[in-house]
Amino acid sequence: MVDEIDLPYPQYRCPTCGKDLPLNEARMTVTCAEHQPADALDFVVRPARPADRHDIEEICDRALGETEIDIFDRTFDVLAGENLIADADGHLAGLLSLAIDRGELVVVLLSVYPEHQGQGLGAALLRSAVEFARERGLPSIRVAVSNDDIPLLYFYQRHGFAIYEIAVGALADRAGAAVAGFSGIPSRDEVRLRRPVEPGR
Ligand SMILES: CC(C)(COP(=O)(O)OP(=O)(O)OC[C@H]1O[C@@H](n2cnc3c(N)ncnc32)[C@H](O)[C@@H]1OP(=O)(O)O)[C@@H](O)C(=O)NCCC(=O)NCCS
Repeated sequence: MVDEIDLPYPQYRCPTCGKDLPLNEARMTVTCAEHQPADALDFVVRPARPADRHDIEEICDRALGETEIDIFDRTFDVLAGENLIADADGHLAGLLSLAIDRGELVVVLLSVYPEHQGQGLGAALLRSAVEFARERGLPSIRVAVSNDDIPLLYFYQRHGFAIYEIAVGALADRAGAAVAGFSGIPSRDEVRLRRPVEPGR
């Protein structure tokens, strides 16, 4: 038996009944491409402004419980990062926090609120990250995902990322023990993925 990640907020929403789900209650389904939900939400991706600080702190709190994130053997502070916001009618619906580390762009955090997931916000934020890297001449983007977070592993590989390294046991070591993550799968390993950024278009 492993402890559960102690996050009071839901990370996903059931598309069938609408129930908000903490990580350990979420389950996967496989579907055909035609039965994906339609992208219906009206939103724009824009750089964060100083006035967004409170909303950024809130989405970090809901996704991770903090604004400082330990990945790639260092600590990244979301509040010190380059932050892009998916803004739906004046509300922060999703956040992408970026940092430049050792000559590459790093996705420090990508989080979309459960009620707005599956409507193209994550993909749009990721496209903006690729553009951000391209404009600065950065050759690649790195991201670190917990081994249990199958939706994120799916999402990033669908968007051209490939696993290049796994820091086996890194998350369990940092937390003192493996804790139950997505679907109750023990969260142990930091899976590192990278995608190239083609110069120009
Ligand atoms: C993973 C995540 C960033 C994707 O953002 P999104 O706005 O839902 O993504 P999009 O709508 O652009 O794309 C959805 C795609 O990802 C898949 N997907 C992953 N998670 C999904 C979710 N919760 N709902 C719907 N689709 C999801 C879909 O199947 C779809 O795949 P397709 O392009 O092959 O059709 C978002 O679901 C999220 O923030 N999840 C919570 C992550 C988390 O655990 N945070 C805490 C630790 S950081």
